[in-house]
Amino acid sequence: MTIRWGIAGTGRMADTFAEELRRVPGCVVSAVGSRDRDRSYAFAARHSLSGNGHQFRAHGSYLDLAGDPDVDVVYVATPHPQHKAVALTAINSGKAVLVEKSFTATLTGAQEVVAAARDKGVFAMEAMWTRFQPAVAALRDVVGTGRLGELVGVQGDLFAYREFDPTDRLFSPDLGGGAVLDLGAYIVSFAQMLLGDPSEVLVRGSSYPNGVDASASFLLNHPSGATATVMCALSAEGPGRMIVTGTKGWIELHPRFHHPTRFTVHRQGVLDHDYDLMPMGRGYTHEIIEVNQCLANGLRESPIMPLDDTLSVMATLQTALDTLGNPQRDVDPG
Ligand SMILES: NC(=O)c1ccc[n+]([C@@H]2O[C@H](COP(=O)([O-])OP(=O)(O)OC[C@H]3O[C@@H](n4cnc5c(N)ncnc54)[C@H](OP(=O)(O)O)[C@@H]3O)[C@@H](O)[C@H]2O)c1
Repeated sequence: MTIRWGIAGTGRMADTFAEELRRVPGCVVSAVGSRDRDRSYAFAARHSLSGNGHQFRAHGSYLDLAGDPDVDVVYVATPHPQHKAVALTAINSGKAVLVEKSFTATLTGAQEVVAAARDKGVFAMEAMWTRFQPAVAALRDVVGTGRLGELVGVQGDLFAYREFDPTDRLFSPDLGGGAVLDLGAYIVSFAQMLLGDPSEVLVRGSSYPNGVDASASFLLNHPSGATATVMCALSAEGPGRMIVTGTKGWIELHPRFHHPTRFTVHRQGVLDHDYDLMPMGRGYTHEIIEVNQCLANGLRESPIMPLDDTLSVMATLQTALDTLGNPQRDVDPG
C-alpha cells in the first residue's frame, strides 16, 4: 500500500518535508497546494516531483488539493492561524491530516479540528516530530521501566534568538507570531508527555512592542505533586535541553532536546549510561512513518501523539497567550 501525500503550503517546512518524504518507503508526494498556482509549479520543479513515477499535481488552491482524489493525507504547513481552515477543508473532503505545530492558533480552533476529524472518522495528528525521535522513544521506555522511580519534575528550555522583525512570521501577530506558539509547543508537549495533564498552569514572560510574546516561563503543577518548569524565548539564547527527575535518578536529554540524539541516565550507585540514537534523515521521517503505519492499520489517531494530548497542550498554550496578552485567532489563508 502506497500512502499518497498532499502538501498544503510551499514554504520552508513544506520544502523540508517533501525531501524527508522521499526517504520513507511506502509513500509518495502526490500533490501540492498553494494559494498561487505558480508557487505550486515552482515547488514541484524544486523537488523534481513531476515524473517521479506517479502522476503529480500542482494545485492553485488548498481546496483543490483537499478535493484531489489521489491524495490520502494532507500535511498542513501554513502559519499556525491558517492551520484550522486548511485542516478543516481537508477533513471535510474525507482526507487524513498531519498538522504542523502549533496545531492551531487557539484552543477553540483545535477543538473544532479535533471534533471535525472525529465526526468524519478520519485520521488526524499534530506534527510534533519530537515525540517520534528515536532518542525520545527510548527515553519514554526508560521512564516506563520505573528506573527513575516516581517522576518528580521536568525542567528545561527551548531558546532560539531571532532579531525582532514584525514582518516575519515569527513576530507577526497575523501569522501566529511569538515564542509560545513557535517554541512553547515543544516544551509543554514534552513535559505533558511525561507528566500528563497539569492541574494548574502559571505563566510569566515578556513581549515585543507589537504585543507578540518574546519569552514565556511555565510552571505546570500536576495532581501527583510533580511539577514542570520550562521556558522558551525568541529573545534569548540557551541550550535547549531537558532534565527529567525522579525519586531514584534523573535523565539529561541533551541539546537540542526537540530533535535529540543523546540522553544520559544518572542513578545513585550506578554508572551513568549514555544512550545514542540517530534519527533517519533530518528526523521528520519518524512522524511520517507513524502516519503511514496508522493509515495502513486503519487508526484514526496516533497512540504516541493522540488528539487529547494535543488539546491538553493547546489549553496550556492558550493560558500562556491569555496571560501574556497575545491575542491570537484562527483565520482563512486568504
Ligand atoms: N516541525 C518543525 O521543525 C517546524 C519547523 C519550522 C516550521 N514549522 C511549522 O510549520 C509551519 C510553517 O512554517 P514555515 O516556516 O514553513 O513558514 P513559511 O516558510 O512562511 O511558509 C508558510 C507557507 O504557508 C502558506 N500560507 C498560507 N497562508 C499564508 C499566509 N496568510 N501568509 C503566509 N503564508 C501563508 C504559504 O504557501 P503558499 O503561498 O504556497 O500558499 C507559505 O509558503 C508553522 O506552523 C511552523 O510552526 C515546524
